[in-house]
Amino acid sequence: MSEVLKPCMEVLYQEELEALAANDKGERPANWQLSPKAVRDFILGRDKPLEHNGKSITISQKFYGDNALVERCIVALASSRPLMLIGEPGTAKSYLSELLTAAICNNSRNTIQGSIGLTEDMIKYSWNYALLIAKGPIPEALVPSPLYIGLTQGIITRFEEITRAPLEIQDSLISVMSDKILSVPELKDQPYIMAQRGFNIIATANTRDKGVNEMSAALKRRFNFETVRPINNINMEMAVIKKECSKLCADMPETLLDDSMIDLLATTFRDLRTGQNSSGGKFDKPEAVLSTAEAVQVYHQTVVDAHFYHDDQLSLKTLVNNISSAIVKDKESDLKLFKNYVKAMAKTQEKTDDTLYQDFANLVAKC
Ligand SMILES: Nc1ncnc2c1ncn2[C@@H]1O[C@H](COP(=O)(O)OP(=O)(O)OP(=O)(O)O)[C@@H](O)[C@H]1O
Ligand SMILES: [Mg+2]
Repeated sequence: MSEVLKPCMEVLYQEELEALAANDKGERPANWQLSPKAVRDFILGRDKPLEHNGKSITISQKFYGDNALVERCIVALASSRPLMLIGEPGTAKSYLSELLTAAICNNSRNTIQGSIGLTEDMIKYSWNYALLIAKGPIPEALVPSPLYIGLTQGIITRFEEITRAPLEIQDSLISVMSDKILSVPELKDQPYIMAQRGFNIIATANTRDKGVNEMSAALKRRFNFETVRPINNINMEMAVIKKECSKLCADMPETLLDDSMIDLLATTFRDLRTGQNSSGGKFDKPEAVLSTAEAVQVYHQTVVDAHFYHDDQLSLKTLVNNISSAIVKDKESDLKLFKNYVKAMAKTQEKTDDTLYQDFANLVAKC
């Protein structure tokens, strides 16, 4: 097994990507490694396995929820339109942009990370000062940025959390996006770089952070916006929790992926996120972000605790503690809302034989 903590998508799914490329008869946009149909199959999975090198390769579903959204993203990119993925934290915006770039360019690492400290040379290019002083502004002294690499290699540049970057830095993208040229005035013989076919940008922005509202209209107009929403189907959310936890806990027993516990967790998160339970009852929802990513984290912690402290026996008490830690981040009052929700839920479950829910409610009451 690889020693790398988080392999990039093109490495993790190398076999799937190779099988898709070998069986791909569709038309590929310029410099794409796969056709749009094969990119879709890579992200949403295929019913039938593919034969490759004498092996049968299953193309697994990786993104769950809105298939039409994935198709719209691929179409935008195939028409050379930059893509902006916005949404609540933990809705898989970065994950989807990694999957798209892995499938399209076999490179999901060409990334700029937006932050308040981002400068224009981090976006465009900077210099190796030792070479610059010794030999002057020659191409060899230029240190390319991910945007520069995207332009020259004709691949996608990912721009993570773009709205966290200062507005004037965000706006320095406008000329590159409209003219597809990056000027490098210091290089006298070659003062500009023309974008190669295949170059594009996928940006992500979190709607809870510094908003997209502040972004300039000029920059907004140059992106196709797509909103990634939380998964609203319990079975899909359970599938993501299971899949991600089995990746994270590959060397622990599979029995730790317990359906009833995962169902309880996914239902609690879904209800608290929407402020409505499955029988239609409404309640005040906590302000904390309760995304699928947080649910994965809560379950992962519960599994690790069971493995190292409880001889691989899952503990409901640990699950409850981990859920309340995820809920109480900024506001202590969110815990009260969680308790009220569980109390009401336990009442509706009283007539059923579901002791798991009753035990859960008793433990939450003691939090
Ligand atoms: N719809 C989904 N399909 C598959 N996995 C999902 C989905 N939603 C969330 N996840 C899981 O959540 C993880 C976190 O997603 P990611 O970091 O991409 O979120 P994000 O939207 O970029 O969050 P942030 O705004 O905080 O950066 C993913 O790696 C994946 O395991
Ligand atoms: Mg992200």
